[in-house]
Amino acid sequence: VEGLFGPKPLAGKRLVLTAGPTREPLDPVRYLSNHSSGKMGFAIAAAAAAMGAEVELITGPVALATPAGVKRTDVGSALEMHAAALELAGGCDIFIGCAAVADYRPVAANEHKIKKDGDTLSVEMVKNPDIISDVAAMAARPALVVGFAAETRDVEQYAKGKLARKGLDLIAANAVGNGLAFGTDDNQLTLISKDQTQVLPQASKAKLAEQLLAILANRLSEH
Ligand code: CTP
Ligand code: CA
Repeated sequence: VEGLFGPKPLAGKRLVLTAGPTREPLDPVRYLSNHSSGKMGFAIAAAAAAMGAEVELITGPVALATPAGVKRTDVGSALEMHAAALELAGGCDIFIGCAAVADYRPVAANEHKIKKDGDTLSVEMVKNPDIISDVAAMAARPALVVGFAAETRDVEQYAKGKLARKGLDLIAANAVGNGLAFGTDDNQLTLISKDQTQVLPQASKAKLAEQLLAILANRLSEH
């Protein structure tokens, strides 16, 4: 971390990030969600604060303590996370989308608990807004917008598509499945931007967070 810019390479910078899963309400007692632990996002938030940044962490429900020096906003659904992100991201230096946002939500949450009436149950779903795409398209766009892409196959190819489609500066791709990434303390990232690809070999999420942020601090200084 103590690279070119001394011990606090992100001093004076504001970083906003999303982390964790979202919960999409089905009825008053049930929701649809995913296995995201929030560990990667929280590791980045902790490292960024240690590197001197002002950090705003927007998180879905996770079982993690708020890192020292980090401002935390708790949200439930993707729509809540979307609203919080658009409110906080304007004019920040770095926005990082670590959250595993539910791609779809039930068209409407049932007002009452769904009863076990039929042998099958169908739930109509509608696509959620793409939070990071909307942040990248803001009038007060963050200087750097960074996405994550967890893929079970064709990692680089899918990640490159997302980089372009969402208007990102960088995407951190990683393979999931077979015990990799979700809920674990280790990860391995391939950083892809328009003109280069860089591999961060398997390491703790804390170590990878520091490496990623050192690269982003470097990029900001070139801005
Ligand atoms: N993302 C987001 N809002 C969404 C969905 C995804 O901000 N509604 C962000 C994630 O936080 C991540 C990036 O987009 O930084 C890539 O997420 P991913 O789920 O891999 O991409 P999708 O576009 O949802 O494509 P798919 O799930 O079909 O692979
Ligand atoms: Ca998705």
